[in-house]
Amino acid sequence: MTDVALRRAAPGDLDAIVALEAVGFAEGAWSAASVGGALADPHGLSLVAIGEDGVLGVILGQVLFERAELLRVTVPPTLRRAGLGRRLLRSFAEACAAAGAEALWLEVRESNTAARGLYETEGFELSYRRRGYYGGGEDALLYVRALGAPPG
Ligand SMILES: CC(C)(COP(=O)(O)OP(=O)(O)OC[C@H]1O[C@@H](n2cnc3c(N)ncnc32)[C@H](O)[C@@H]1OP(=O)(O)O)[C@@H](O)C(=O)NCCC(=O)NCCS
Repeated sequence: MTDVALRRAAPGDLDAIVALEAVGFAEGAWSAASVGGALADPHGLSLVAIGEDGVLGVILGQVLFERAELLRVTVPPTLRRAGLGRRLLRSFAEACAAAGAEALWLEVRESNTAARGLYETEGFELSYRRRGYYGGGEDALLYVRALGAPPG
């Protein structure tokens, strides 16, 4: 994927990110209020990938002192498996480290094989399992990666 630039997300990206959520998640897309909350968070750290047609991908997160958290990463179905999710995650991890975080945490549905594949190939390790966390009884998996260390 060429001519895609990454930059910090801004309040003006709200509508585009909400639209991405709607196409990116089969269920549980975040509302404008949730996305707006992440963008307005004084501890928030979020990136968008920008191409000719506007926002192509997004990663929403937060840095609280030594701990960073990835809240959402979304690439639309038509652009998947071209490396954009990995690029967003790497830049996000670098930005979190630059902001002083020492570890990056995230939580994912056990059935989300695409996201787990991305995280596991970027050096995240399974930390623990929240049994029955999601509706329907699905487990949440919590992953963590030290920042500053190269993936793998
Ligand atoms: C998870 C997601 C962001 C990945 O984005 P992407 O741009 O397709 O990811 P990449 O192309 O960078 O893939 C990186 C690696 O992740 C893994 N991966 C990606 N999609 C995969 C899939 N469908 N099955 C298994 N592994 C997958 C692979 O290891 C892949 O490397 P490879 O293509 O060299 O084999 C995307 O699938 C998505 O938006 N899903 C819906 C939203 C979501 O569930 N987000 C995560 C929870 S917040």
